[in-house]
Amino acid sequence: MPNPVSPFQEDNFFSEEEYTEIYTILENIMKKGEEDLNDKYGYMKKLTNNGFIAIFFSELRNQDKLPKLSDALENKIKAKFEEVAKEPVDHIGIAFARYTLDSGDIPSLLPHCDRSETHVSYTFTVELDKSKPWDFYVEDQKFDMKPNSAIWFSGTHQSHWRPDANFDSNDFYDIFLCQTHLSSDGSPLPEDHYDNGDQISVEFAEKYSELLKDSLEKAERINGACQ
Ligand SMILES: [Fe+2]
Repeated sequence: MPNPVSPFQEDNFFSEEEYTEIYTILENIMKKGEEDLNDKYGYMKKLTNNGFIAIFFSELRNQDKLPKLSDALENKIKAKFEEVAKEPVDHIGIAFARYTLDSGDIPSLLPHCDRSETHVSYTFTVELDKSKPWDFYVEDQKFDMKPNSAIWFSGTHQSHWRPDANFDSNDFYDIFLCQTHLSSDGSPLPEDHYDNGDQISVEFAEKYSELLKDSLEKAERINGACQ
């Protein structure tokens, strides 16, 4: 089982061309949603509990109905993972998410460890376009986010979160989120690993409750997961 990566920041993650590619695809998916479904978010996934609307690029790979990432960009992401992991990686999950009140609820990211990977995860999140700043924390470490800056961490092992965001109707905050695990990792994480991650995250939420008032209120109101 590999050691979880120590969190670090990598600026200027995407080239100008790659950044433009992501937004061109977003525009085209929204345009197609307008045209076909009279809803710009019609071909995106609304995750109301999280407060974002997403495109899961890893689910679009084997279809031709919607625009998908170029092989060049897919390969760049894979190469980045293998550069950090120093080993071949397995299936890569890739998502774009736009935090917005259009999602149906306030954007929030309460402390949590990811359950979306079966093995020790390699994770990065990149800040894209935004209307206002929004800090990102891995456990106690605060990262000053800036456009096109990636934070690397292990989502299965390090509780990560953002403070209350206070979005108004025009606010948005875009991210790119990718995760994978080593091809050679033959040790699936046991259920108690995830339960322990939940417990640790509750403790982080209590520790930083002053920064999470709205997010905690939302979690209670919707009585469900917020990330
Ligand atoms: Fe997460």
